[in-house]
Parts: sequence; C-alpha cells; structure tokens
Amino acid sequence: MSESKTENIKWMKRALFLASLGNGKTSPNPMVGAVILDKDKNLISEGFHHKVGMPHAEAMAFNNLKKDARGGSMFVNLEPCCHHGRTPPCVDKIIGSGIKKIYISIQDPDKRVSGKGIELLKEAGIQVHLGLCKKESLELNKAFIHRNITNKAFGVLKWAMSIDGRIGLKNGKSKWITNEESRSLVHSFRAEFDAIIVGGNTLRKDNPLLTTRGSKDPEPLRVVFTKSLDIPLNSKLWNCDVAKTLIIYDSSTANERFLTRIPECVEVEKVSSDNPVLISKILAKRGCNKVLWECGPKLATSAVKSGCINEIISFISPKILGGENSMNPFVDFGFNEMDEIIKLKDSDLSLIGNDMCLKSSLKNQF
Ligand SMILES: NC(=O)c1ccc[n+]([C@@H]2O[C@H](COP(=O)([O-])OP(=O)(O)OC[C@H]3O[C@@H](n4cnc5c(N)ncnc54)[C@H](OP(=O)(O)O)[C@@H]3O)[C@@H](O)[C@H]2O)c1
Repeated sequence: MSESKTENIKWMKRALFLASLGNGKTSPNPMVGAVILDKDKNLISEGFHHKVGMPHAEAMAFNNLKKDARGGSMFVNLEPCCHHGRTPPCVDKIIGSGIKKIYISIQDPDKRVSGKGIELLKEAGIQVHLGLCKKESLELNKAFIHRNITNKAFGVLKWAMSIDGRIGLKNGKSKWITNEESRSLVHSFRAEFDAIIVGGNTLRKDNPLLTTRGSKDPEPLRVVFTKSLDIPLNSKLWNCDVAKTLIIYDSSTANERFLTRIPECVEVEKVSSDNPVLISKILAKRGCNKVLWECGPKLATSAVKSGCINEIISFISPKILGGENSMNPFVDFGFNEMDEIIKLKDSDLSLIGNDMCLKSSLKNQF
C-alpha cells in the first residue's frame, strides 16, 4: 500500500473515531466525523456531530479551524448534506472554504442528499474520492442506514439466561440470572439506544425501570406493546420525570376502558394489529435509529418472525435453572426441519466476570 493511501486511511479512521463519540445521541441523524488538512497535509481541524440539533461534523470542523483551509483536503465518513434541514447545507461551507479534495467514505442513504451532495462538490471543481473505509463506515452507521432504507428501526434483542437456556423459573421468577457486572453493563449499553421495548406481561411481572441509570440524558424512550391494555395502576414507567414512556396498543384486541389507568404524562398510540413491525415503523418515524427489545419469549418470537430484529445479545450465566416448564428466550417457531432453523452470523463472545456475552447478527440486515 502506498504511503499516501496509508495516510488517507489513517485520517478517515480518525474521522470515524470522532463520529463514534456521538454514539446514541445523534438520532435521527447519523454519526459523522470530519478532519481537515491544509495544503501540506497537516491537521488543521476536526469535528463531529455531537447530538441532534447541534452543528454537523463538517460545520464543527470549520468552526474549529486553526488555519486557512484553502487548497487543503477534508475526510468525512458520510456524504455532506446539501439540503436545508435543522442546519444549513454543509456542501456550501465546503465549497466556500476553498478545499480542493474531499474523501467521503459512503453516500448518504437519505434520499434528499444521496449522490446530490457529491455532484455539487464535483461541479464546484472539488476532487471527490468515494469509498475509503467503506466497510467500517457502513458498520458504524448501520442503524441509520437501515432506518432510511427500510423505514424500520434497527432492532437488537437482548436477554439474560442460564447455561441451560432458561430466562426464568416456571413461576416467572428471574432475579437475578446474571452477575452484577453484566447487569450494570446492560444499564450503560442502553445508552446506545433511542428506545427500549417490553411487552405488557413483562411490565406486569417485573415492573422494570428500563433506564440507563443516568448514563444518557435524555433517557431512551420506554415503550410497552400490549394487546390487552391490561396495564397496572402503579408502575415505575409512569414516572415521566425519569424518562418518557409510550404505550402502543393493538386496538383490535385491547379493552379501551383501561386507557383511564394511563397517567397523563404517558403517551399512547394505537395500532390496528399485534404485528411488531408496526412498532418498529412508529419508532422509525419518530426518529429512532436503534431500538432495544428487552421483551419476554412471546413478543421476542413475534419480533423475530416479523423481521424487527437485526442483532441478538445474549448474556449467559453459568447457573442451572432446570425445569421442563421454565421459560426459554423464545416460544415455538414451528420449525419441523433443521434447514428451517434461524442461523446467526458474525458472532462475538466476551467474558464479564464469569458470565458470557454473545452478540450475533441475523441475516439480511438491510
Ligand atoms: N431473562 C430475561 O432476559 C427476560 C427479559 C424479558 C422478560 N423476561 C421474563 O419474561 C416474562 C414475560 O414473558 P412474555 O413472553 O409474556 O413477555 P412480554 O415481554 O410481556 O411479551 C408478551 C406480551 O406482549 C404483548 N404483545 C403485543 N403484541 C404481541 C405479539 N404479537 N406477540 C406476543 N406478545 C405481544 C402482550 O401484552 P398484553 O398481555 O399486555 O396484551 C403479551 O402478553 C416475565 O416473567 C419476565 O420476567 C425475562
């Protein structure tokens, strides 16, 4: 590899690192980082998109400029925007700066921008190089890309189970299967998500809090999906000072008299069936790129069947719960042949004390 290619990769990786600092805070926007070099290839500025409503990465980099950028180059992990959104178009700033060369990792999947930003830069006489560190950029912004292409939120399903594959005893008791370190990791990793979803039964049985315990401000939206609307009068989720809560109910089966149990601060949306895709679409429309499904076996199975889940995170603890009727992470998928079963890919295993954390992807992410 030539010296300049190695240098270019180094700068794009720096832009990707900066972009990742916005993880969990930029939705509905992507994570973007930008680096500016002068005409002698010295670093003169960098910036990243901190959170929605704040300037884009390119604008931040121009705000931080230490020297004139004329004749220099820029590295950015996503195609610069060319439309007036919450902030002015970045393409205009880049053209106005006198930068001669721009390295862009991937095109923006947003139809308002896709390819158009690149065209405008080329028309202004800027050399555009597309595709540097493409794989890493696709990985970093996979949730944003998924939402733009499918109009669904990128779904991660998480559960905690014993070594014998049980998520609770037959009487429903499950506190605690995993160790304290795993549980505190779950609290902080929730900060990567825009919403956390449970089913009505988990709400009734566990009365969960579903927060990051302060790692994220504002906390992710807490979502309950219910067919019956038979929700408890008292729940930790009704305290909206801690985090917002949204109840989504299936109006074809719910008893709408129970609506009076819902406190005023809690938002309510109704859908026409119990298909979890409807939740995924509602949340995508509200700007959620990435959502965490922390539901029990029934809703988890429906969510997988309906294509709402892209990744699975399983915490596995070396404990034996036993019992024919103890709870599994899923109910029956109705498979009769081994070639029907769901095969996961890209597995990654880590140890948390004496627990294991296995992350895997489902096929066909986009
Ligand atoms: N170990 C773990 O990681 C873990 C994680 C989560 C839960 N759990 C345990 O799981 C148990 C609850 O299991 P569960 O399967 O009943 O979970 P759930 O998360 O409550 O999901 C089922 C509920 O979701 C609602 N729902 C809406 N649409 C649905 C659909 N298409 N398919 C299925 N459900 C739909 C229904 O609520 P309504 O009944 O209100 O209509 C249904 O009862 C609890 O004991 C909890 O402790 C364990």
